[in-house]
Amino acid sequence: MSDRGGIFAGDDPFAIARSWLAQAEGTEVNDPNAIALATVDAEGLPNVRMVLLKDIEADAFVFYTNYESAKAQEIEGAGKAAFVLHWKSLRRQIRVRGVVSREEGPQADEYYASRSLKSRLGAWASQQSRPLSSRLALMAEVAKVTAEHGPNPKRPPFWGGYRIRPLEIEFWADGAFRLHDRFRWQRSNLLHDWHIQRLNP
Ligand SMILES: Cc1cc2nc3c(=O)[nH]c(=O)nc-3n(C[C@H](O)[C@H](O)[C@H](O)COP(=O)(O)O)c2cc1C
Repeated sequence: MSDRGGIFAGDDPFAIARSWLAQAEGTEVNDPNAIALATVDAEGLPNVRMVLLKDIEADAFVFYTNYESAKAQEIEGAGKAAFVLHWKSLRRQIRVRGVVSREEGPQADEYYASRSLKSRLGAWASQQSRPLSSRLALMAEVAKVTAEHGPNPKRPPFWGGYRIRPLEIEFWADGAFRLHDRFRWQRSNLLHDWHIQRLNP
């Protein structure tokens, strides 16, 4: 790819994503790692919500959530998800579409343990996505799990990570007069090499 350089340089899309995120950490007001995560339900109706991207690995993006939540059910049903990262301060976006698997081993334990005690207990207390009668009922649940699990709670079995392995990653940067730069990395399956193309804005 002859005319790909600057912020798009290099052939490893995960390295580019890491580098853009590191830059956004210096420019965004908050949550530079917030992603809009898209899933699709059993009827094919799309759904989207923000989550925090916690890891960019050699071949995957990782976030954490409740395995009984709406998003988890949609992910488990389809086996696929997409997300977008958008940084207003940099005027850039990264779009990812891929296949999803759970991260519920030692890595999830380690991330869970790194969170504040209140967040760890909150994960136990929240039946994420299910109806809740009142704020008071949630606080009562927090008190209950605090008594049950004490100061060093284990990771709940219903809470952990998801790893998105991309089939497509697109990097977009704002250009003058809406003539933006777009480059897409694409592979037909996870074992294939990336095919890189510049796209029309
Ligand atoms: C900036 C931001 C970050 C969030 N991060 C997470 C997250 O990492 N994990 C999570 O489960 N929910 C996170 N949430 C809450 C989700 O957007 C959502 O409300 C919740 O996960 C339930 O979604 P669901 O019912 O579609 O499963 C975040 C919300 C915002 C606004």
